[in-house]
Amino acid sequence: MSTFAEIFFAQRKTAGERTGAARSGSDTPMIQSTASIAHAALDARAPAPRWVTVPHRDCKPAWKLRMIGPMTTLAPAAKETIYREARTELAALLDGVYDPVAAMASAASVLHHRIERASWTGFYRVVAPGLLRIGPYQGLPGCLEIPFDRGVCGAAARTGESQVVADVHAFPGHIACDDRARSEIVVPVRDRKGELVAVLDVDSHHLAAFDDDDRLGLESIAELLSGHL
Ligand code: SME
Repeated sequence: MSTFAEIFFAQRKTAGERTGAARSGSDTPMIQSTASIAHAALDARAPAPRWVTVPHRDCKPAWKLRMIGPMTTLAPAAKETIYREARTELAALLDGVYDPVAAMASAASVLHHRIERASWTGFYRVVAPGLLRIGPYQGLPGCLEIPFDRGVCGAAARTGESQVVADVHAFPGHIACDDRARSEIVVPVRDRKGELVAVLDVDSHHLAAFDDDDRLGLESIAELLSGHL
């Protein structure tokens, strides 16, 4: 099986020859093809790879593009370590980036691949008074809209407080986008002015997958994100 890097470089060379990107200095075709290449590599991947981002010498700083590739080993880490490393990785990815979609998409990916018990990781954005709409996420398709008076996401948005739910079946009004969901955590996400702009939702198929350490970790990620929103 080709490694991600092999596929990436082969495709990049082809894209460069086809479009003249390498000569013109434009990285856009390369970036556009990266997602599909990465997805193809993931489809063919070995069981349970973990992912790490590393700086790539050819990337222009303006694009903040990083090579990604599978790590061979990653010992189970304490939650504090998982969130600290996620925060460091995300800070590097988003350095100089002030784009809500880029910020939320990167956070969803980084967190989803680091939180082993996560079945769904993503954002619901505030799009109107009292209304959340789905944003960037990883996992199966989620519900498109959630009013503030429904579900765990709604409760986080309505109260402005993080919600840690050990058993979603015991939570009145829980919305089951995936009927295997057993527990979840939702933290509010604010922009630089302190306005609620989204909630970050992580769901699990395991009961009581999240606790106060996850809340602290995800709140620190939300705090980092607020500087990019
Ligand atoms: N569980 C959420 C709904 C969103 S999804 O599960 C993706 C809730 O009750 O707010």
